[in-house]
Amino acid sequence: MYNKIMESVEFIKSKVSRKPKIGVILGSGLGDLVNVVEDKEYISYEDIPNFPVSTVKGHEGKLVFGRIKDVEVLLMQGRFHYYEGYTMKEVTYPVYVMKQLGIEKIIVTNACGGINKSFEPGTLMLINDFINLFGDNPLIGVNDDRLGTRFPDMSEPYKLELINKAKEIAKELNIDCAEGVYAGFMGPYYETAAEIRMIGGMGADAVGMSTVPETIAANYLGMDVLGIACITNMATGIQKVKHSHERVVETAKKASVDLCRWVEKIIEEI
Ligand code: HPA
Repeated sequence: MYNKIMESVEFIKSKVSRKPKIGVILGSGLGDLVNVVEDKEYISYEDIPNFPVSTVKGHEGKLVFGRIKDVEVLLMQGRFHYYEGYTMKEVTYPVYVMKQLGIEKIIVTNACGGINKSFEPGTLMLINDFINLFGDNPLIGVNDDRLGTRFPDMSEPYKLELINKAKEIAKELNIDCAEGVYAGFMGPYYETAAEIRMIGGMGADAVGMSTVPETIAANYLGMDVLGIACITNMATGIQKVKHSHERVVETAKKASVDLCRWVEKIIEEI
């Protein structure tokens, strides 16, 4: 894998001469952040050797290089989901590439279901921990010590310092934010009511089908992670209506106005 990553990185470096400091992975309906990026340069995933290729409708597959508030950033427009059939190594491949490009901090966003009854659709939640219910993880297999340690610590998967900074900024900008635990399921079906009762009892505040693999890989690689979840609906059994992907994306798009303002300022200050 190491050689493949390096090949991807060399290709990217031959196309753009930028030194991104912060990486951002954008969730469903949360792609608007790209609009505030200045001096953009794009590379399509399909052009990068060894990069997986996005298959989901509405998920654009490209790396966006540029500046937000004078900070060099790299945005992933379109992420890889486990439910699409990618392996965990493929899902997290871009994180490995980001690390080798020199990125030390990564902001991961997602659209997800709310379990904590104090939430409502549109709530933005700082993720303070995760529960991995994928039944898999990206670190399985022979370990390459050049990348990270065999048994990584996961006691602070989301960097406390970044969470506190994000809270401070939310206050300044008058953005309401919640905080909680994100449980990741493999999907692609929206969970059953019984599954939601179970994970609610385990301490999950929100549930989704992404973010956990990338968080695990980033921690393994020694990167600092900030996770922001957009609650687009209440989880199965809590909300009375059936789920619809269209409604999820619509709610995420509305919430992304505040999310963009927030993330812009976070990027400026961390
Ligand atoms: N469950 C899982 N993933 C989701 C949900 C949900 O309720 N809403 C948006 N993504």
